[in-house]
Amino acid sequence: MHLLKQTTAIAFGLGLLMATTAAHAGGTVEVLHWWTSGGEAKAVGELKKSFESQGGTWIDSPIAGGGGDAAMTALRARVVAGNPPAAVQLKGPGIQEWARQDVLNDVDEVAQKEQWDKVLPPVLAAIMKYDGKYVAAPVNIHRVDWFWANPAVLAKVGISEMPKTWDEFNADADKLKAAGITPLAHGGQPWQDATIFENVVLGIGGADFYRKAMVELDPNALTSDTMVKSFDQLRKLRGYVDANFSGRDWNLATAMVMRGEAAFQIMGDWAKGEFLAAGKKPGVDFVCAPTPGGAFNLNADSFTFFKVHGADRLEGQKVLASLIMSPGFQETFNLAKGSIPARTDVSLDKFDACAVKSHEDLLAAIKNNTLVPSVAHEMAVPRSVRGEFLDLVTKFFNSDMSSADAVKELAAAVKRAQTE
Ligand code: GAL
Repeated sequence: MHLLKQTTAIAFGLGLLMATTAAHAGGTVEVLHWWTSGGEAKAVGELKKSFESQGGTWIDSPIAGGGGDAAMTALRARVVAGNPPAAVQLKGPGIQEWARQDVLNDVDEVAQKEQWDKVLPPVLAAIMKYDGKYVAAPVNIHRVDWFWANPAVLAKVGISEMPKTWDEFNADADKLKAAGITPLAHGGQPWQDATIFENVVLGIGGADFYRKAMVELDPNALTSDTMVKSFDQLRKLRGYVDANFSGRDWNLATAMVMRGEAAFQIMGDWAKGEFLAAGKKPGVDFVCAPTPGGAFNLNADSFTFFKVHGADRLEGQKVLASLIMSPGFQETFNLAKGSIPARTDVSLDKFDACAVKSHEDLLAAIKNNTLVPSVAHEMAVPRSVRGEFLDLVTKFFNSDMSSADAVKELAAAVKRAQTE
């Protein structure tokens, strides 16, 4: 063979070999998630991009549906079929529920090497571990108890400050309604109904009450006057939504606020990701303020690692775990997602005032013991109990059920779920 040709052939062969090695340098991960709205897709796109830039192969498995109920159904089917995805957007007690079924892989080797224990709030680290080993990696800290509003719409009826109590909110909403403006953008889906309801409970009862009723599921708290009052407030909110609320996706409700078709939305700060993805400026085009309660309603997203086999897939899980927890990724991802980093050592210099407020309030809540986990977002109770909450709250929202009947039905349903 001609020398040049021979060299070329060798070089070509080497290149091929290198290309093959490079393609597998970061391993392969199939990632199941429900991040399909504008802001969500942008944020998860950052993860995909970083993973691929390290030479990994990313298999995207998005299952649309805010709050993740459809994604969790798909996950169950995959696990039952013995073919789970390598990494799943899954959080809270759900991680422990799957771990008990022995279907998770741990990434503890990475976690120990990178000393995750030192950079995560203990409350989050505990959720990520099973049997003392990390089986999940947290990407963020979302806050659920937020009002989002369009300041130009509020100004039309002379509202210059965000409400601090539910009574103040009702007064603002009455003014808006009288002026022919939809006070509350809402999507009638069970998880969205439950999101606004739990924020109401937190505002009316405070953190200790929320914990007793919604987390410890104390029957007296569940049937108390405070709970009756919470349902009364939910009934009021029902009167502030537009006629087409039923079934609407949460991001479409956010768009109503953006376009000035409604004044407020009560939603976690993934709504901020939507505003930002649409080029809206915090403090100018939209404003944020915590809903009443002086607490912090926590929802942290994480990726949980399921049992996969083969060197390439195991490598993929390790690379992804390390990437998720890297400070640079935590910054980029959370700037897009609307949340704040799960790591405590990432600077918030590039973050907006809503994120800074979230961080300050989180620290205060940890100190004052007013940090509570979200029921609607799978941080508080087993899925079966959460399901009962969602069903009852939605039934109430879409009927003329009395608050007195609602608390009785809720307590009975929760008890049923616990004894099943
Ligand atoms: C939450 C999730 C958020 C956001 C939201 C709407 O449960 O934690 O990241 O995506 O659902 O889909």
